[in-house]
Amino acid sequence: MANEQNAPLPEGFEAGGYRIVRKIASGGFSMVYLAQDSHGQPVAIKEYLPSSLVRRAPGQLVPEVVGGNLPTYRNGLKCFFEEGRALSRVIHPNVVRVVNFFRANETVYMVMAYESGRSLQELVIHNRNRPGKRVLPERHIRKIFAQVMNGLREVHANRLLHLDLKPANIYLKKGGMPMLLDFGAARQTLTQDAPKLFPMYTPGFAAPELYKKNQQLGPWTDIYGLGASMYACMVGAPPQAADQRIKQDKVDTVLAGLTDIYTQQLLDLVHWCMKLNPLERPQSVFALQRALREPFMREGVETRSFLPLRWLEDMISPLRRRRDGRHTEPKRHHAPAHVPAHARVQAPALAQGEGNGVASQPDATLLAERKGD
Ligand SMILES: Nc1ncnc2c1ncn2[C@@H]1O[C@H](COP(=O)(O)OP(=O)(O)OP(=O)(O)O)[C@@H](O)[C@H]1O
Ligand SMILES: [Mg+2]
Repeated sequence: MANEQNAPLPEGFEAGGYRIVRKIASGGFSMVYLAQDSHGQPVAIKEYLPSSLVRRAPGQLVPEVVGGNLPTYRNGLKCFFEEGRALSRVIHPNVVRVVNFFRANETVYMVMAYESGRSLQELVIHNRNRPGKRVLPERHIRKIFAQVMNGLREVHANRLLHLDLKPANIYLKKGGMPMLLDFGAARQTLTQDAPKLFPMYTPGFAAPELYKKNQQLGPWTDIYGLGASMYACMVGAPPQAADQRIKQDKVDTVLAGLTDIYTQQLLDLVHWCMKLNPLERPQSVFALQRALREPFMREGVETRSFLPLRWLEDMISPLRRRRDGRHTEPKRHHAPAHVPAHARVQAPALAQGEGNGVASQPDATLLAERKGD
């Protein structure tokens, strides 16, 4: 078994034209450093260092691949590099900016623009400990996630999936603008060499299709993580893990207990994103964004967004009646009780061609399949 606590690169170490200042964070898959480029500008550098495969003692630079893990390590390294290269094409204010790559110490380094700030997880943890206050008010949740959705939409438009969406991977830059970090697709590919790196998804935030092999993954998989992250911002804790929900689902009960604090529309939206059946979730971020903007609808209450449709129907119906020679009442657009307006846009046909560049139907490039776990 590899050492969980690998040693970081020493301060002042230089590689690829950058100088390491200090370690910022370490996860199961990599280590992140604050560094400086040749002009003294700060950058964040992520080092591929999967803790279950390698060991690096203090004073060493090159990680030692333990046991028979070399093929897995190499495969992961290739995926880390490929994924980062794909990510470097995504240029969006709500997605971390990858600026360079280099090889050193028999591993790979991804260089990102450095942003000072803190993760959404840190904010949630800080806020949930304040007595008598809600974790995050609705207007903050809406503001943060509207921007996260913009970033995620751009990611999907580039035919990438995040696959590890959770508050820890949503970074709030100074000033509050959120940014997506830490894409998990490299880990995804590594599951081909499971079980060494499995499980690697965070329980509570991972969609149920990530638990099984040969599942179709798509925007709906990230949308589950998005819903679970909104849930965590409301409750102050991760939701029940998807595999537990299948046995006995407690998420609905928890959401139902929040009706005094959050609007029914937002609660319904989270509920929709967290549907266990991927087909019942929003199929695209575009559909989700539209739902977030729609006023909540209840039976018998028509909302502005449907008025143009009614107006059109009222115009067309008399003509249709005249043509058909019969008298029918124009159909009214009422939403059934407790069905949010956004449930109307679930059909894949609507999700397609909505300008996010992502097909809603299974697609060989977009839909990574988990194998071998
Ligand atoms: N571009 C950046 N600018 C500033 N800080 C960053 C940047 N990227 C990462 N960080 C810091 O490093 C922390 C961890 O980053 P990230 O989520 O990418 O890696 P990780 O979770 O440690 O990785 P893994 O799960 O792959 O092992 C972030 O919470 C943040 O504090
Ligand atoms: Mg992370």
